[in-house]
Amino acid sequence: MTTKSPDEIKSAVRATYTQVAQGASCCGPSCGAPMDTGAVSIGRIGYAPERVGAIPAAVLESNAGCGNPLAHARPKAGETVLDLGSGGGLDCFLAAQEVGPQGRVIGLDMTDAMLQKAEENRRKLGLAQVEFRKGEMEAMPVESGAVDIIISNCVINLSPDKAAVFRESFRVLRPGGRFVVSDVVKTGEGGEGSMEEWCACIAGALTPEDYLGGLRAAGFEEAEIVERKPYIAQGHESNIIRAVKPR
Ligand SMILES: C[S@@+](CC[C@H](N)C(=O)[O-])C[C@H]1O[C@@H](n2cnc3c(N)ncnc32)[C@H](O)[C@@H]1O
Repeated sequence: MTTKSPDEIKSAVRATYTQVAQGASCCGPSCGAPMDTGAVSIGRIGYAPERVGAIPAAVLESNAGCGNPLAHARPKAGETVLDLGSGGGLDCFLAAQEVGPQGRVIGLDMTDAMLQKAEENRRKLGLAQVEFRKGEMEAMPVESGAVDIIISNCVINLSPDKAAVFRESFRVLRPGGRFVVSDVVKTGEGGEGSMEEWCACIAGALTPEDYLGGLRAAGFEEAEIVERKPYIAQGHESNIIRAVKPR
C-alpha cells in the first residue's frame, strides 16, 4: 500500500485525470500502470452501442469507467441523480435521458480539466437538467437528503478516505435513496504498491467484504454485489455494488 498522505494521493489523482481528459490511457511518467480508458472500452464495460450513439466522441474518449452503474440504478423520470467523480460526463448524460427534463443530474468532480470538458459537452447536448459541480466526494457540496440515486463509475477506489465517502453518500441521499456504483475491488494478490497503481484504480481498491462493511457502518441496508466482471489488473475485478438508505 502507498505511504503517501491523503493530499499527495489527491494531487496525483488530479494530475492523472487531467491527462486522461487530454487523451492519456496510462498512468505515470513511464506509463507504469495501463488503464482501461477511452471509446474502445465502452462496449466491454457494459454500454449498449445504441445507448451511447448520441453521445459526442469527446465524451467517449474521456471514458474511464469500469462498468455501467445505470443498468442497475434505473433512474425514473423526475428523480435526482448524483454522479461521484463524473469525469467526461458520460453517465450524467445517459442519466439525463432517463430522468427527463423534470429530473436533475449533478456531476461532482475535483479535476478542472474534466469539469470543463463535461460542461462543454453538456452545452452541445443542450441538457439543462445536468449540472457539473466542483468538489470532493469526501465532503460533498450537496444538500442533505436531496438525492434519489447516487451513481459512480470507477472512482471510490481512488479515495484515501472511503469511510468519509460512504458517510457523505448516506447524508445526501433521501430516506429510501439508492447507492449503485461500479468500482474496482481487490479479490486476490497484486497491485498493492505504487502511486501509479493507485491512480490507475488498482492500489486503493477495497475487498468486496470491506466495501459492503463500510457501507453498513455508514448506515446503509441491503448492501450487496450485484454484478462481477474481470478487470485488466491481476487480482482485481470490476463489481457493481448496491445499497439502500433506510426509510
Ligand atoms: C477513473 S475516472 C472515472 C470518470 C468517470 N466516472 C467515467 O466513468 O469515465 C475518476 C474521476 O474521479 C474524479 N475523482 C477522483 N477522486 C475524486 C474525489 N475525491 N472527489 C471528486 N472527484 C474525484 C477524477 O477527477 C476523475 O474525473
